Amino acid sequence: MVKELSKAAYQILQKNWKNGFTIPTSKLYPFQWNWDSGFTSIGFSHFNLDYAIQELQSLFSGQWENGMVPHIIFHSEKETTYFPNYDFWNANVNAGAPNKPKTSGITQPAVHGFVLENLLNKFPDNEKLLAFTKDIFPKIVKSHRWFYQYRDPKREGLTFIYHPWESGRDNSPLWDESMDRTIVNKDELPNYTRRDTSIMAADERPTSYQYDRYVYLLELGKKYKYDEQGIFEESPFLIQDTLMNAVLIKSNQSLINIGKRLGLDVKEIEEWQQQAKPRYIEKLWNTDLETFTVFDLRGEHAVLHKEIGGLSALYAEIPNMDQAQKMNQYLWDLHQRGFFICPSFDVDSILFDSKRYWRGPIWPQMNWMIYHGLEAYGYYDTSKIVQSDLIKLVSQLGFYEYFESQKELVPHLKTGYGGSDFSWTAACTIDLLME
Ligand code: SER
Repeated sequence: MVKELSKAAYQILQKNWKNGFTIPTSKLYPFQWNWDSGFTSIGFSHFNLDYAIQELQSLFSGQWENGMVPHIIFHSEKETTYFPNYDFWNANVNAGAPNKPKTSGITQPAVHGFVLENLLNKFPDNEKLLAFTKDIFPKIVKSHRWFYQYRDPKREGLTFIYHPWESGRDNSPLWDESMDRTIVNKDELPNYTRRDTSIMAADERPTSYQYDRYVYLLELGKKYKYDEQGIFEESPFLIQDTLMNAVLIKSNQSLINIGKRLGLDVKEIEEWQQQAKPRYIEKLWNTDLETFTVFDLRGEHAVLHKEIGGLSALYAEIPNMDQAQKMNQYLWDLHQRGFFICPSFDVDSILFDSKRYWRGPIWPQMNWMIYHGLEAYGYYDTSKIVQSDLIKLVSQLGFYEYFESQKELVPHLKTGYGGSDFSWTAACTIDLLME
């Protein structure tokens, strides 16, 4: 079974490889996506280290002068199945955006530090990888510096996002209140046609109400030439996200580990880390919900929902033992109640929807991170379930983008949800199979 599944996963990565980078899935996401490419690089490392390296190189070819790594790199300007395409983003209104490749104007979770450490742990003595590390290390540090410089204006140690797409969890109910606060005047919004719902079932995707607001926030970025200060002052959507900050903290730690190993300067990264980790616990832990919650900077309050971003803190080893124990218990209870773990949103909320994108399904890359987090704390019983749940879903339903989280519904399904032959699903499955 392991052999067959790994072979099928490798074939998907090969199929999605486009001479230097990997698309997440054809048609729906036909370019290079930021955090997808990190997980894909880990998947490729099991078969072809050169591809794993090239994947990261290609992504960083789109890095802006200010350090931001954009969430999409449009390596091809001919592909037309995606909205919003490079011309709609018009990232070149910012003087520091590259002209080639074209990019989007926002970012995504900063996975590249921990991805690089993962590759180095697998191939500690590989000369090509060591040479690549020396080249990419300062670029990754620069991208973290951008976060702390431009996305943390009050110098708190926690960075903000101004678009749900940056969080990776586009239509999570976490953002509903901020979306409602975003008043959209249709006459002032540019005309646009969604492409996703002509490719995918509409009930697996965000609603048109949400899409109008995604476009509104994109336009806001463009209006300020993607310069953070104006956006910070005006955006109705301004969030300190659990996942974004946990991933950044995890990657900070990886950069510190790599730097120390190779004799590189890590003082600045240590300073970020010394502030970020305690601040994360202090500001984002919620005693009643027993999890970390996102903070709405515009509304000036914590967003009181249990969801998957809070659990990603385990991967960055942020929680103390007591907090980690509570999070582990939460996952264990969900398992006992008949859910695959871990659903992307609180199964007891009326907003839970096990089919619709980030409002409840299982996401492979989240399982991958939570698996490693649980292992780090020694919760092996739960980590093995997180690992085997994903492998079961993939074996039964295929390499889809996301999956049904209610066990009782799975026997009635023929496939997973969203895009098929999906790169990060293949990559995370391979890596978890090899554990
Ligand atoms: N995930 C978003 C999309 O569906 C934005 O990157 O296109």
